[in-house]
Amino acid sequence: MISSEKNKLSVLYSEEEIQARITVLANKINFDYKDSASPIVLISVLKGALIFTADLIRKINLPLQLEFVKISSYGSQKISSGKIETPLLNLPPLNNKEVLIVEDIIDSGRTIHFLENYIKDQFSPKSLKVATLLSKSVRREVQINPDYVGFEVDDHFLVGYGLDYDEDYRHLPYLAICN
Ligand code: IMP
Ligand code: MG
Repeated sequence: MISSEKNKLSVLYSEEEIQARITVLANKINFDYKDSASPIVLISVLKGALIFTADLIRKINLPLQLEFVKISSYGSQKISSGKIETPLLNLPPLNNKEVLIVEDIIDSGRTIHFLENYIKDQFSPKSLKVATLLSKSVRREVQINPDYVGFEVDDHFLVGYGLDYDEDYRHLPYLAICN
């Protein structure tokens, strides 16, 4: 148990466990896209997916183009506000591209639902898949079936490895339950 002034943290997945799981996901992506005619266009959802993205892409051995969007639905509370904000949503043309969205965690599913619909409205990608490090399926409000999932997690609020509570803890190299 690690205590800070505000919160108690219990480690859920260590740095080693996260890296091992990302290697498995990357191998699967390498296999699934090996015959693609064009580079994977990987769209990372800031800020939370930053660290997962950095580790995942270095294990992908195929041509890849990296894009970022910044989307949030959380605010400063542990419960999603439900309101999607898009401070950064500039994407290059994605027509006929192999698009892979990379997210830190899928909770209600609203963020990914929004982004998938946005991409489908604006473009006609050749494929559109979702990779998420974490999935809290028990909290789903809109149906999202991610193609690559690192860990299926229970209904805990998690921090570390990119995930924040009120902008804190993103830099922790492990994932922890925040109480
Ligand atoms: P959704 O739109 O409800 O699926 O929420 C997805 C976004 O909420 C993620 O991209 C995270 O930024 C944030 N989020 C959801 N659950 C957690 C959590 O347990 N810890 C930190 N952020 C979370
Ligand atoms: Mg996020």
